[in-house]
Amino acid sequence: MLRIAPSLLSADFGGLAEAVGEISSEADWLHVDVMDGHFVPNLTIGPPVVSSLRRHSGLFFDCHLMMTDPGAYLQAFRDAGADGCTVHVEVGDTEKLLAETRRLGMRAGLALNPDTAFEAVEPFLGQCDLVLCMTVFPGFGGQSFMAEVLPKIAQVRAALDDSGSTAELEVDGGIDEETAPLVVQAGARVLVAGSAVFGEPRPWEAARRIRAAAEKVLARGQVES
Ligand code: DX5
Ligand code: ZN
Repeated sequence: MLRIAPSLLSADFGGLAEAVGEISSEADWLHVDVMDGHFVPNLTIGPPVVSSLRRHSGLFFDCHLMMTDPGAYLQAFRDAGADGCTVHVEVGDTEKLLAETRRLGMRAGLALNPDTAFEAVEPFLGQCDLVLCMTVFPGFGGQSFMAEVLPKIAQVRAALDDSGSTAELEVDGGIDEETAPLVVQAGARVLVAGSAVFGEPRPWEAARRIRAAAEKVLARGQVES
């Protein structure tokens, strides 16, 4: 199953509810980028915005916490209506954060930066519901896709499959019609796209094109196997 998760980071922050409405028919999840100005040099959305958006959308809210201290905010995100929260392995305390996310009833995700090795997340694969491979350094939308991450995506896919895990494998950064087939080929099944969706005049058409490009790879795989 393939999921398209448009990232609100490239939407007009003055009209977020409208942006969500525009994309909802083509989105499986809504990716919410939370930045604390510390783990990454940018500030974005917090629990009050998630709570407001919750009143406008029934989509799965996939909150990507680019924060040094996500543990202090997990409860607030849950109360605001987050369905899943993803923390970065680079901040440490991983086991506790994943357990707390699940205890709060959310899907627990674990993200790793482009220069973080697969081995950093390997011990936690059995404790998370999603692994997020960053294909840009987090902090800003509109950066170029880093193809050097592809082998690591394949490594995560193989590890999940070998262990019989049903955790999602998500990619985030520089995903568009050209790069979506590459990450799906490597094993990703949840595709986050910000500027390639909300940077377009008709975001819903852009999301549809990304999905079509990705699904072609899956269809080819089914014919071959
Ligand atoms: C980057 C964010 C991404 C970002 C992706 O720090 O985590 O979710 O919105 O934006 P694009 O798709 O423009 O690379
Ligand atoms: Zn993100």
